[in-house]
Amino acid sequence: MSRPPKALGAWLVLLLPHALIAQPVTVDEPAVCFECHSDIAADASKKHVHTAFEDGKCSTCHNPHAAKHAALLDTDKGELCLSCHDGVRDELQLSSPHVPALRGECSECHDPHASAFPDQLNKRPVVLCQDCHSPVQEWLARPVVHDPLPKGDCLSCHVAHGSGVSGLLQKTVPSLCFDCHKSDQAFTTAHRGRDIRGADCTACHDPHSGSLTGLLRENQHSPFAAGDCERCHGSGGDDGSFAIQADVKTLCIECHRGVESFEETKFHGHLTQGESCLNCHNPHASNAGSLLAAEQQVVCMRCHFNEPGRKPKSEYLTHDAMECSNCHTAHGAENSKYLVTTDVDLWRTEPRTRSTW
Ligand code: HEC
Ligand code: HEC
Ligand code: HEC
Ligand code: HEC
Ligand code: HEC
Ligand code: HEC
Ligand code: HEC
Ligand code: HEC
Ligand code: HEC
Ligand code: HEC
Ligand code: HEC
Ligand code: HEC
Ligand code: HEC
Repeated sequence: MSRPPKALGAWLVLLLPHALIAQPVTVDEPAVCFECHSDIAADASKKHVHTAFEDGKCSTCHNPHAAKHAALLDTDKGELCLSCHDGVRDELQLSSPHVPALRGECSECHDPHASAFPDQLNKRPVVLCQDCHSPVQEWLARPVVHDPLPKGDCLSCHVAHGSGVSGLLQKTVPSLCFDCHKSDQAFTTAHRGRDIRGADCTACHDPHSGSLTGLLRENQHSPFAAGDCERCHGSGGDDGSFAIQADVKTLCIECHRGVESFEETKFHGHLTQGESCLNCHNPHASNAGSLLAAEQQVVCMRCHFNEPGRKPKSEYLTHDAMECSNCHTAHGAENSKYLVTTDVDLWRTEPRTRSTW
């Protein structure tokens, strides 16, 4: 029996074009790539595989022939990632972006293909953070370490890419702290029976670690260490608040007459700026010397050399082993620019000691 001609015709119609028209070059991605890049093939068996890698289309990101950027990428690495991750792009627009993410160094933290860790992180988060933030090791070695740290839980307080809160925080202090802490009786008692719920917790506590119980910052102001809150706060406001007895400068100068004398020098604008002493000092406790609110360079750079877009300080400070106060007198001076001396020998002065105040 022969086939009905109609059916044969239908078969020819189906087969002919395929037989006669030239096939486009099809590359069996990723198999062809894996012939030489067998190490990359192994990525596919890792626990957390990037969705964009899973489909095997290496050419989504790589140009197999030649490209403008390293690793045969047609697009700059950061831009490549952001082209599919709008959410991250939005985070980078926030007021406190994380420098490496902003620079497009996504693969400093993520493996673009796959990894053993969630979110394709190159390492366990705390190790990852520690690689760039060397103080972490020091924090973990102190006698009192805040509970989330040994667990490697940096991300309970910080975000990875960018935040609207300074310090890359998840949210503002104190609400960040009240995510885990309750304002119960023990809490109120520890705070001398005062209502501390609206306070900046980090003014007294180190969020990471310390050597004192209660994670208090190490260098304590003597009246604070003595628990003499009344000396500065009186009995507080009627609402249990921490109003102070007088304006800041008057309050401080009551016990620090020496500082007052700087007002007689020609340049002493610092002492009359906004919050005066509190622009640089913490009235309670600090990790830094001289009760400074933070390390000296950090404190000074909150107002100086902080123009937006300026390179991070580590990249331009030439005298970075020196304190600003080796050359400038913070409280006031006869010399312009608050210089300690106009003598060219400035550059040879020994670091000044307290006795020179
Ligand atoms: C989502 C985008 C993306 C996809 C999809 C992708 N890659 Fe990559 N790949 C990258 C990026 C980005 C780098 C550079 C990483 C770096 O800077 O360390 C890279 C690096 C590489 C490297 C050199 C560095 C190394 O790890 O040895 C090779 C080889 C490579 N990829 C092969 C492949 C192959 C093969 C595929 C397909 C199976 C593939 N890639 C799929 C983004 C991608
Ligand atoms: C015939 C072998 C071979 C095949 C097939 C092959 N590659 Fe390569 N590829 C190489 C060699 C060799 C290098 C250079 C390696 C080096 O410099 O260490 C390279 C380099 C690369 C790099 C850049 C690595 C870097 O660090 O800059 C990428 C990305 C890459 N190949 C992706 C691919 C992709 C995607 C495919 C599949 C479309 C593929 N390769 C197929 C041999 C091959
Ligand atoms: C072609 C689009 C594309 C590109 C390019 C791309 N991704 Fe992805 N990525 C995805 C998709 C799709 C997912 C799956 C989850 C989702 O939809 O967000 C994903 C998931 C992720 C995840 C895990 C998110 C989760 O919820 O588990 C990370 C981390 C990630 N990508 C980082 C990167 C990095 C870093 C780069 C640049 C090297 C990059 N991506 C480039 C499409 C892409
Ligand atoms: C400093 C390390 C670091 C850098 C740099 C970084 N990330 Fe991440 N990324 C993380 C961490 C950590 C997480 C997990 C966040 C979490 O669990 O809250 C994450 C999560 C993600 C996720 C999944 C969750 C989300 O936010 O959507 C994506 C997608 C992602 N990153 C993409 C990127 C891209 C794109 C870049 C580059 C522009 C980048 N990352 C740069 C550390 C980093
Ligand atoms: C690739 C290096 C790198 C990695 C990895 C990294 N950081 Fe950073 N981080 C930086 C740089 C650079 C800065 C900016 C420092 C500066 O300006 O002096 C920074 C700044 C910060 C800041 C201060 C932000 C501010 O505005 O004061 C915090 C908080 C921070 N990182 C937390 C983390 C956490 C948490 C991790 C782990 C998820 C992490 N970092 C991983 C490089 C890194
Ligand atoms: C309990 C909340 C909390 C945890 C957990 C936490 N931090 Fe912080 N971190 C803070 C607060 C609050 C600040 C102060 C922000 C500021 O100065 O505005 C800070 C500041 C920082 C800074 C910038 C200033 C400095 O002291 O160097 C870095 C970097 C940083 N943290 C990294 C980390 C890393 C890495 C981890 C995990 C090992 C971590 N943090 C865990 C709350 C936390
Ligand atoms: C992710 C949860 C978490 C967050 C967020 C958190 N803490 Fe804690 N904190 C703990 C745990 C758990 C302990 C140990 C148990 C306890 O004493 O309550 C602790 C202990 C403390 C202690 C007592 C240490 C001691 O010696 O007993 C202080 C003080 C403290 N936290 C302050 C803060 C401050 C300030 C913040 C905000 C910057 C904060 N915490 C944010 C979980 C957290
Ligand atoms: C003016 C300084 C100061 C401020 C601001 C402050 N604390 Fe305290 N905190 C203390 C002192 C002092 C103790 C008692 C420490 C001790 O006795 O070991 C304490 C104790 C604690 C303890 C341990 C006591 C307990 O509950 O068992 C926690 C937790 C705590 N503070 C959290 C916070 C939080 C959260 C904030 C912000 C809302 C905050 N503190 C603000 C000074 C302060
Ligand atoms: C040497 C003076 C002095 C002593 C002693 C002192 N304080 Fe303060 N305190 C201040 C000053 C100054 C301020 C900032 C007031 C302002 O900004 O208007 C302040 C602010 C506060 C705040 C508000 C912090 C915030 O961020 O909102 C709290 C809470 C507080 N003090 C608690 C205490 C407690 C509790 C003690 C005793 C353990 C104490 N203080 C001892 C001077 C002092
Ligand atoms: C009740 C008196 C009193 C008041 C008010 C007072 N202080 Fe003090 N302050 C002291 C005493 C006592 C010392 C310890 C002096 C010493 O060790 O030589 C001290 C030390 C200091 C130090 C040096 C700390 C160090 O580690 O070297 C600074 C800075 C300081 N106070 C700033 C202030 C500021 C700012 C105010 C106002 C908010 C203030 N003081 C209010 C009594 C007071
Ligand atoms: C709260 C903001 C603030 C802080 C913090 C601050 N300064 Fe200033 N500084 C100013 C202002 C405003 C002026 C200009 C008014 C004046 O001459 O006093 C100034 C002036 C100066 C000058 C003179 C500049 C000129 O062109 O004449 C020097 C030098 C200086 N500061 C150094 C420092 C040092 C060092 C620190 C840290 C110990 C510091 N500043 C901390 C606000 C600040
Ligand atoms: C512009 C920042 C700034 C301001 C504003 C400021 N100080 Fe200071 N203060 C410093 C620095 C920096 C040191 C440490 C100097 C050093 O280490 O050489 C210091 C040291 C001190 C010391 C310790 C001196 C010693 O002999 O140990 C006292 C006390 C002091 N300041 C009180 C005050 C008082 C009171 C006010 C307000 C009237 C004030 N400061 C305003 C930056 C400032
Ligand atoms: C090695 C000595 C030295 C050190 C350390 C030093 N300065 Fe200066 N600084 C000077 C001299 C000298 C001038 C005057 C330059 C001129 O007149 O052109 C000056 C000028 C300034 C000025 C005013 C001119 C300007 O560029 O705006 C500021 C503000 C300033 N310094 C702040 C700081 C801060 C903040 C630190 C610490 C981070 C610091 N300086 C560290 C020597 C120093």
